[in-house]
Order: sequence, then C-alpha cells, then structure tokens
Amino acid sequence: MRHFLTLNDLTAEELESLLKRATELKRIRARGEFHQPLRGRVLGMVFEKSSTRTRVAFEAGIAQMGGHAIFLSPRDTQLGRGEPVEDTARVLSRMVDLIMVRTFSHETLECFADHSRVPVINGLSDRFHPCQLLADLQTFQEHRGPIRGRAVAWIGDGNNMCHSWINAARILGFRLHVATPPGYRPDPDLVATAGQAVTLHDDPMEAAAGADLITTDVWASMGQEEEQKTRMEAFAGFCVTPAMMKAAGPDSLFMHCLPAHRGEEVEATVIDGPQSVVWDEAENRLHAHKALMEWLITG
Ligand code: CP
Ligand code: NVA
Repeated sequence: MRHFLTLNDLTAEELESLLKRATELKRIRARGEFHQPLRGRVLGMVFEKSSTRTRVAFEAGIAQMGGHAIFLSPRDTQLGRGEPVEDTARVLSRMVDLIMVRTFSHETLECFADHSRVPVINGLSDRFHPCQLLADLQTFQEHRGPIRGRAVAWIGDGNNMCHSWINAARILGFRLHVATPPGYRPDPDLVATAGQAVTLHDDPMEAAAGADLITTDVWASMGQEEEQKTRMEAFAGFCVTPAMMKAAGPDSLFMHCLPAHRGEEVEATVIDGPQSVVWDEAENRLHAHKALMEWLITG
C-alpha cells in the first residue's frame, strides 16, 4: 500500500509514468470513451479547508472511472466535535478504498496516514500541495515537452506550493529560481536537500530572466488570513508583471494554481494573457488525479 503525502513518495520513474498516464486519460475522455477501472470503489474526502478544484477533480474523476466519492467536512462529522484523527482514520479506512485529506497541519495528515489501512492522498496541507504539481508538470510537458533541464521561476511566498515545486525540481532534474521577500523563504532544509536544483533570489526579475515558466500563488494562504495586511506590504514588488514575462522570454509560460487575486500576486494582463496556461492547468487536475487514483487503487 502506498500513500501520496508529498512528491517524495514517488520515484522519478513513477512520477513520469503518472504524468504520461494523465495525458492518456485526457485523450480517452476527449474521445468520449468510458474507462471505468474503479467500479464499486469509494473515495473518502476530508476537507478541513475550502476547495473548488481539488474537490471537483477528485469527485468528478472517481465518478468518471466508475467509483463514488464522499465529501466529509469537520462541520458535519465527529472530527469537528473532537473525535481523534487516529480513530477517524481507522474507521474510514475500514469502509472506503482511498482517502483524500486537505488539512491545516501536515502532521494531521501524517497521523491520518499512519492509522489508515488504505492509501491516503494529500489534497493540500500547510507544507505541501503535491496534487497540484501533478497537474502543473503535466501542463508544462503538454505545452513544452520534457521539463528536465528547463528553468522555472517561482515568484512570491515560499509556501506549500513552493515546497512542492522544490521537490519536483529535485526529482525531475530542472532548475527552480525562487524569488521571495527575505522573511518568506521556503524551508531551508528542503532547499538544502534539493542541492543545485534550487536557487534563492531577492530580486524577482533576476529569477524570471530566461525562465521557461513563471509561476506564483496567493500571498496569504488559507489559515493566514489575519496576516493579509502585513503580507500585502511585504510582497510589494513580487507581483508577476508583463515586464517579468518579457524578461523570461516570448516562449515562457505562466501558471497559477488558483484561486488568483488579480492585481496582487499577478497582473490581470498576465493571467488573462497569451502566455498563461492556467485553464489547462486547472483542467489537468482532473486527469492527473484520475491517474493518481487509478495507480493507488489498481497498482
Ligand atoms: N488549486 C487548488 O487546490 O484549488 P482549490 O483550493 O479550489 O482546490
Ligand atoms: N497556497 C495556497 C494554495 C491554494 C490552492 C493555500 O494554501 O491556500
């Protein structure tokens, strides 16, 4: 049994084959064919935080593959009334075939996985968002071919998305230039593990120069709402602008995991402009998560 808590749970070969499978599943769906290897299988989805893409991608994805999803929130389960995570994991995993958890604390997710009899997927934690990276890598490769040896610029907060990009750079062998304000750098241990794959920058233009892809995310993640004002000030100058896209070059792509705040971390002319692939990126959540579920359940 395998869990998917971070990208490090996959070898490079497994990751590459999942990305390939995601694109195959996308073609199967485009041809209007039914592919239902998960008939009778049930996915439990525990959401401590809001979601549009992750919920719909998993729920629609398992339905398209013949299975069923159950949406669970702390508001209407016993989790919200203090039932331990360990007990919830033990009980759910005796009833369903696969569990996706979106949680405030990565430790909660690890605890869940430790007590589960079935594979557990990280649907976003404060530390990592590996599911999003599956879609992002798939999207890059569909537009530009293999990402190995290419350069990606991360502009903004050294957050959960940034951490997953760092893991991806190390596993797949591309360069990641991370530009953040000084107090918002990614986890130094993670950066150290990535070795030469990752460089840290103070100047976003320097990180953007020559990049094959520029990507960013919100300045205040879920759970950091009260820091919004301080962060707005700290991140001034880290908005992805047309000038940054120009420094990257005409073939450079723009990605954002969404939801986006136009005028904060990205200018509207960039996210709604010709170099942006954010809608393909969002759609690929569906195909990538289908590939992930198929692999975790059927091997
Ligand atoms: N990108 C992402 O995970 O979106 P949701 O929060 O809508 O799931
Ligand atoms: N970093 C963001 C990603 C949202 C999909 C957050 O954690 O809120």
